[in-house]
Amino acid sequence: MNVVMIGAGYVGLVSGACFAEFGASVVCVDKQEERITALRQGKIPIYEPGLEDLVRKNADAGRLSFTTDVAGSVAKADLAFIAVGTPTRRGDGHADLKYVYAAAQEIAENLQGYTVIVDKSTVPVGTAREVARVISKTNPDADFDVASNPEFLREGSAISDFLRPDRVVLGVESERAEARLRELYRPLNLIEAPLLVTGLESAELIKYAANAFLATKISFINEMSQLCEKTGADVNAVAKGMGMDKRIGNKFLHAGPGYGGSCFPKDTLALNRMAQEYGVGSRIVEAVVEVNASQKARMVSKIREALGGSEADKRIAVLGLTFKPETDDMRDAPALAILPALIDRGATICAHDPEGMDEARPLLPEAMEYADTIEEALKDADAVVLMTEWNQYRGLNLRDVRDTMRGDVFVDLRNVYERGLMEAAGLQYTSVGR
Ligand code: NAD
Ligand code: UDX
Repeated sequence: MNVVMIGAGYVGLVSGACFAEFGASVVCVDKQEERITALRQGKIPIYEPGLEDLVRKNADAGRLSFTTDVAGSVAKADLAFIAVGTPTRRGDGHADLKYVYAAAQEIAENLQGYTVIVDKSTVPVGTAREVARVISKTNPDADFDVASNPEFLREGSAISDFLRPDRVVLGVESERAEARLRELYRPLNLIEAPLLVTGLESAELIKYAANAFLATKISFINEMSQLCEKTGADVNAVAKGMGMDKRIGNKFLHAGPGYGGSCFPKDTLALNRMAQEYGVGSRIVEAVVEVNASQKARMVSKIREALGGSEADKRIAVLGLTFKPETDDMRDAPALAILPALIDRGATICAHDPEGMDEARPLLPEAMEYADTIEEALKDADAVVLMTEWNQYRGLNLRDVRDTMRGDVFVDLRNVYERGLMEAAGLQYTSVGR
């Protein structure tokens, strides 16, 4: 089975490497030359645990290669996946589909023999049909089908999510396309991963509905965290008690600084936009977006209050910048909303992140300082803010922390620690919803 993956980013690279692991012959295409040059040398442009080894293993076995040449790779492909970005379009919240249609156009110009063109990017309902239209218009003789195969992997655990998925969704319209996709995913039969076959529209909407529902759980518990703070309840206990009900489930009920990342923020906006365009609205998801913005703003006030009412002239050590641990991705990280607000009010910030500092630098104010070690970040700090729950920050020696700092304020935005331990180490502890 010959597969071409257009786009070698977080999704394209992981999917390409995993399809190669399944035994397919995969070519990953990216228009960024430096990315392809690096990949050919075995250098992985993103931080994703396990990806470097998987890429090397499959490249060495001759099943995975990298190119900027769409033409040659598409001509040989049985399946051409589109895994390019679909960022928020400026101004209206819609998913910007220009990269998807540009990829479709390039695929169309180079098709030879029957090919299935598969949207792996997250795209609004109707995009697969539009991709088909672009292809037919560009190449009226092309023998092809379109399909939708949305991707549910999480950054940080992308490879295990891909190799052991809860389900694979295939939106198809022809038996030929379904047979090809089933053949590609056949190795998952061994672990009995469910394969859900639907129409194109349902597959496209499943992806948005799933992401919006997960974001809803997070905004719900974040809203509860505020009520917990007012009433004296503990949000961890509330989430635990809720999650023990199997109808609710215990996942994605962890209160924090608000969801970030390359998917939830943009996909909730795009879903709202889509619902508006179809004239039906999506009041719940609109509220989810609003609650998420106010949760980030609430974190700024929380830090200010912990500092005694003003962050002016205070030195703050920030542990963690990325939107979640085990990734270097800074897209829509809560840090990007919270830290500039503190700097605007006169705080000095020194941040540490195990993998995200290079990505963060161009996105954060120039006044930010960065530390190579946790200790360097903590030095002379009036307060510590634990922003992202990297493992490195879960087992801090709290007495050492207190001794290295100037002040004694510890703001734990991920509820990693317990108040008793903090107070025993002489730290004033603030967390979320407790
Ligand atoms: P990304 O920005 O990391 O990667 C996209 C890549 O596509 C870039 O390297 C870019 O250079 C390349 N590209 C763009 N146009 C191209 C073209 N015409 N030819 C060749 N290469 C081209 O994006 P990502 O995070 O991998 O996301 C891709 C899609 O997958 C998005 O729709 C996203 O919503 C979806 N998705 C992402 C995740 C995630 O965790 N990142 C999870 C599930 C779904
Ligand atoms: C998400 C979806 O989980 C995945 O299925 C989809 O394919 C892409 O988007 P990802 O963005 O990589 O994955 O990370 P995820 O683990 O879902 O976390 C997203 C954000 O929500 C992070 O900022 C995280 O800190 C936050 N979060 C998650 C919470 O605040 N509380 C939780 O309980 C879970």
